[in-house]
Amino acid sequence: MAKVYGKTVIEEYLSRNRRSKELHERARSVLPGGITRTSVYFDPFPPYVARGLGSRITDIDGNERIDFSNNYTSLILGHCPPSVVAAVQGQVGRGSAFAAPTPHEVGLAERIIGRVPSVQRIRFASSGTEAVMFALRLARARTGRRKVAKAEGGFHGTSEYAAVSVSPDPAEAGDARSPAALPAASGVTDGVVGDVVVFPFNDGEATEAIIRRHREDLAAVIIEPVLGSSGMIPARRDYLERLRDLTARHGILLILDEIITLRLAAGGAQSLYGIAPDLTVMGKIIGGGYPVAAFGGRAEIMALLDPAGGRPPIPQSGTFNGNPIGMVAGAATLDALTPADYERLNTMGDDLRQRLRALFARKGVAAQVTGMGSLLNLHFTDVEVTDFRTMRTGDAGRLRRVFFGLLNEGIFVAPRGMACLSTPMGEEEIAAFVRAVERALDG
Ligand SMILES: Cc1ncc(COP(=O)(O)O)c(C=O)c1O
Repeated sequence: MAKVYGKTVIEEYLSRNRRSKELHERARSVLPGGITRTSVYFDPFPPYVARGLGSRITDIDGNERIDFSNNYTSLILGHCPPSVVAAVQGQVGRGSAFAAPTPHEVGLAERIIGRVPSVQRIRFASSGTEAVMFALRLARARTGRRKVAKAEGGFHGTSEYAAVSVSPDPAEAGDARSPAALPAASGVTDGVVGDVVVFPFNDGEATEAIIRRHREDLAAVIIEPVLGSSGMIPARRDYLERLRDLTARHGILLILDEIITLRLAAGGAQSLYGIAPDLTVMGKIIGGGYPVAAFGGRAEIMALLDPAGGRPPIPQSGTFNGNPIGMVAGAATLDALTPADYERLNTMGDDLRQRLRALFARKGVAAQVTGMGSLLNLHFTDVEVTDFRTMRTGDAGRLRRVFFGLLNEGIFVAPRGMACLSTPMGEEEIAAFVRAVERALDG
């Protein structure tokens, strides 16, 4: 009997993940969908994790998998790196949070500012969502303008202005070169959507025309150097340079969202592209696996947060801002990352992309492997993937089948085909990934 497309791998998954299935049924009666983060859900249920160590995670059924998600790119040293565990254990006994500053927030701020020259002052938050929210507010306050511009398919967290055209239906979003701004969630108001301008990633001419049209109202352009949740698509160098020039010319602030890309180099993707943004948002690796994010940039813009001399134009609160557990974990992580580590991770990423491309070519599979450095994404399409619309040409059914095949083969990636590397990985893990993709294609 012919295999039903996708059925066999899912049956196999079900048979190996019975405890997760049971827990998911229990979880559904307390958590919508049985989870508390949409991006970890997939149908019929995700594996519930028991523990992680190095490059491996083990679920509650005892399945061990190589973790190529790394909590969506945040665990650059893998799980439980010894120096981070020691730093956190040392701090846990001294207190987890105070309504007072600690030396640890100064230490992490100095480390980041020492690595990213465009960041002259920095403030911490607990999530990237909050950091983006403050960066956009700063831009509005600084310029006195209302609107912000973002790329179609750009993901900047879930605050109101970020929740526009994240993953729109292309049929509703209209002309690819002049995409409509569409709410990414129910409940996002027309007022919010009306203040967001959307441009096509990597299309310099169309983006310039859109930004020029709105220049008098635009406070900021926010962009990821590598379009993350839409498929790890690197910005073209000339595209980012053009955005930098254009925004500077019109008094619009350029905000680089480096929440993912700070893992590409000590100075972030901005050091690789040679771009100095006005503001940068950071997260993921800077907390060493704990909930820490930050926004920072030019001192005169960040001065809007300074309370010395009275109530600042932009008050920033946050009960766990700068909590010492996250600060020491972040500092231990940055201290552990040598230039050689970044280089090794990025070279390993180049190698993995090449090996996957060679595999797809040998098998005659229409696929693209996008990414940069230690970040990559699989797309089952013969169209070159350069932006949100071309990403959407991917065969979602095939991706789903390969995703379950990989889970069954002991490889954990994001359901959208995103994978990233961590320092405990080496040739063994890379070879295992390529082998598992080959089996998943055959399965
Ligand atoms: C590029 C980018 N910006 C913002 C965010 C939001 O960060 P958080 O999930 O910490 O709110 C993310 C999270 O994945 C991200 O990848």
